[in-house]
Amino acid sequence: MLNLVLFGPPGAGKGTQSQNIIEKFGLIHLSTGDLLRSEIANGTELGLEAKKLMDDGLLVPDAVVIGMISNKLDSNKDAKGFIFDGFPRTVAQAEALDSLLASKDSQIDGMVALEVDAEELKQRLLLRGKESGRPDDANPEVIAKRIKEYNDKTAPVAEFYKAQNKFTSINGIGSINEIFDSIHEVIQGF
Ligand code: AP5
Repeated sequence: MLNLVLFGPPGAGKGTQSQNIIEKFGLIHLSTGDLLRSEIANGTELGLEAKKLMDDGLLVPDAVVIGMISNKLDSNKDAKGFIFDGFPRTVAQAEALDSLLASKDSQIDGMVALEVDAEELKQRLLLRGKESGRPDDANPEVIAKRIKEYNDKTAPVAEFYKAQNKFTSINGIGSINEIFDSIHEVIQGF
């Protein structure tokens, strides 16, 4: 199995690069943001609760996203591996992911962090908000809150993987193909 955490702040390119990686390596893409948006689109109770927090740029509770990931791991028992996008976002989520994988005799092989400065992130998200209407991209205040949540609660997750010697950081600015080449090189070293 090959299990990769793709890490980085909002707008770093995790979703974009995930598409290339799943095509190349045949992994299953698990994006907690996509799973939550699907709950919202289906009008579930979970979706309604999550929407308030997401529209406000805040993280949803750990138990909610850990439960979603646990279900996905259980329903994809024959997978060649997983790419985790937007998860884990807190140290508690990282610890839970280690336990879930250990219970399946598996583990995270590595984390790749996409480094992009705050100004570039804001520009990318505002542009996407204009084009797609995604509510949490719509205004600079919510984008700033998402970046603050990342710095306060998510950045420490990098330390968790550094302590396990599983962390690599790459430049997330440049063409999508150039960035994919860098990720590809890291994965080859696992
Ligand atoms: P989520 O959906 O995970 O959003 P995010 O982390 O804010 O990530 P984005 O999708 O905005 O960015 P990305 O890094 O995937 O970049 P992308 O490839 O899309 O989460 C949304 C919300 O859900 C959270 O705020 C939270 O409320 C909740 N949530 C989700 N997971 C959670 C968890 N685990 N715990 C708690 N709460 C959770 O690219 C962005 C844009 O840039 C695109 O328009 C793209 O075309 C463009 N772009 C990409 N690469 C490049 C490039 N190289 N050059 C120029 N433009 C580029």
